[in-house]
Amino acid sequence: MGNHLALVTDGASLVIDYDMPLLLDACQAAGVRAEICSWQDPDIAWERFDAVLLRSPWSYVENLPQFLEWCEYVTDVVPLFNPLPVVRWNLDKHYLADLAAAGVPVVPSGFVAPGEDPAAALRAFLAGPGRGAELVVKPTVGAYSRDVQRFPRQAAAEAAAHLGKLLDQGRHVILQPYLDRIDQHGETDLIYFDGVYSHAIRKRALLLPDGTVDEPTQDARAARAAAEDERAVAAAALDAAAAHLGLREPLLYGRVDLVRDADGKPVVLELELGEPSLSMPFSEGSAARFARAIAERLEETSRKRKSR
Ligand SMILES: Nc1ncnc2c1ncn2[C@@H]1O[C@H](COP(=O)(O)OP(=O)(O)O)[C@@H](O)[C@H]1O
Ligand SMILES: [Mg+2]
Repeated sequence: MGNHLALVTDGASLVIDYDMPLLLDACQAAGVRAEICSWQDPDIAWERFDAVLLRSPWSYVENLPQFLEWCEYVTDVVPLFNPLPVVRWNLDKHYLADLAAAGVPVVPSGFVAPGEDPAAALRAFLAGPGRGAELVVKPTVGAYSRDVQRFPRQAAAEAAAHLGKLLDQGRHVILQPYLDRIDQHGETDLIYFDGVYSHAIRKRALLLPDGTVDEPTQDARAARAAAEDERAVAAAALDAAAAHLGLREPLLYGRVDLVRDADGKPVVLELELGEPSLSMPFSEGSAARFARAIAERLEETSRKRKSR
């Protein structure tokens, strides 16, 4: 049976991948022969594996073209989980517009492209409905809170400067109202394996009032049971993603990050279908659930290969 799996990380990220040790053990228990590999290791013969699972290749943020090139190469020789079209779509937060178009509640988002005038784009955004007292400026391609900043409305000049800096780097940018319920309630990140809800965590607010930006480290997280309304929005977001991408089977893994808006309704902050941290240390049994889903997917993949 084809049960040889590459768990993909990179040299710097492995030490902050707290899921990896749990997943490695759980894979072994589920009969999956898993090996930790760096996507940047030129000596790995990827075709040796039956599948390649993205876990913590987080150095991709500074190496996006190389990472996509590597994904394309791997996809040609062996199945990639999640598949490349999913990863590619999910790398860019423009996907929020696709989710909104499908009727999924998302954080209201304005998109600004390089070449646009930052001050004018900001004014137009702030004139929209429900903007609130503060706003958030962030790149559409980014991770780990990098380059995400929060500004009071009155600090429009500072916000425009940050926006202009990102645009000058050739990056697309999202403008959002700062949803301040996050200060008390945090965000809720829901984790799904094979389309089935596994567990959730609370992540505290990372954008502090003084402008400090925290990273989503382990101490920012705690176990939390997702509420019914959160489960419903997360499931709708995953369904909409699958429909948009024309997927025929549930995503092997996915994470949906929700915050509550000014009316208290859950809205999508982020959908993570590429290389999400899965907060497995916060949920007993989650690694085993994921490993079982992986084992089934591997079996299915080898059945399909044989029948070809
Ligand atoms: N519109 C918003 N309202 C409140 N907090 C936000 C908003 N956007 C981002 N944040 C905060 O910034 C963090 C990072 O933003 P996020 O959209 O998750 O980007 P990424 O994790 O890809 O860097 C979030 O976890 C949240 O704490
Ligand atoms: Mg995030």
